[in-house]
Amino acid sequence: MATPHISAEPGDFAETVLMPGDPLRAQVIAEHYLDEVREVTNTRNMLGFTGLYHGQPVSVMGSGMGIPSMSIYAFELFNEYGVEKIIRVGTCGGISPDVAVRDIIIAMGASTDSSVNRTRFGGYDFAAIADYGLLEALVNAARSANVNPRIGNVFSSELFYNPKADNFEMMKAHGVLAVEMEAAGLYGAAAEAGKRAASILTVSDHVITGASTSAEERQNSFHDMMKVALEAAIAAD
Ligand code: HPA
Repeated sequence: MATPHISAEPGDFAETVLMPGDPLRAQVIAEHYLDEVREVTNTRNMLGFTGLYHGQPVSVMGSGMGIPSMSIYAFELFNEYGVEKIIRVGTCGGISPDVAVRDIIIAMGASTDSSVNRTRFGGYDFAAIADYGLLEALVNAARSANVNPRIGNVFSSELFYNPKADNFEMMKAHGVLAVEMEAAGLYGAAAEAGKRAASILTVSDHVITGASTSAEERQNSFHDMMKVALEAAIAAD
């Protein structure tokens, strides 16, 4: 039965769903990396697909941009479609001086200016963290692919166009690696549902140095990230 935001039937999604922000990127991932692909949802053009990676079922679906959009899809996937694991595959803006464009970041934790996890957690500060097994599978897959990931805290921002530029210096001083817009919402939704989540991100630009990537560089680091995410998706138990 369809949910308000997903038109798939029960059983259409694999146990693990990879989620880029952009639904057309979900389609490219499905067509490029999966076999026997079928579209399973297209409500509001938020496309989702299920196929096989090395013979094992994997789904890929857009999350949209920002915590509210991610929270809707993660909630329905976890609670209505029996999805057990979601791996966000996205981009982020570098904050730490130790992070360069094209680097791959695995978000062990996600700080945020959003109140969604406080709303879930009785007004207290919830530590939004990745599932350890998924984190380990991502790190192992990265090392096997000769990718050296940066692993640590990211900041899931409510605003892309943030007028408080000082905040980036504060994040830098606290060792935050990068800024993005979804991980803290995904981690909170997973915890609430008793399910598992992690995020792997490529650095598309650097917020403090102003460095950015060319389309070709973005494509190469995207490919590295996808290989790592897909290998982790089928390796994690
Ligand atoms: N801010 C928020 N999200 C992002 C950025 C950014 O600078 N770059 C890529 N995703």
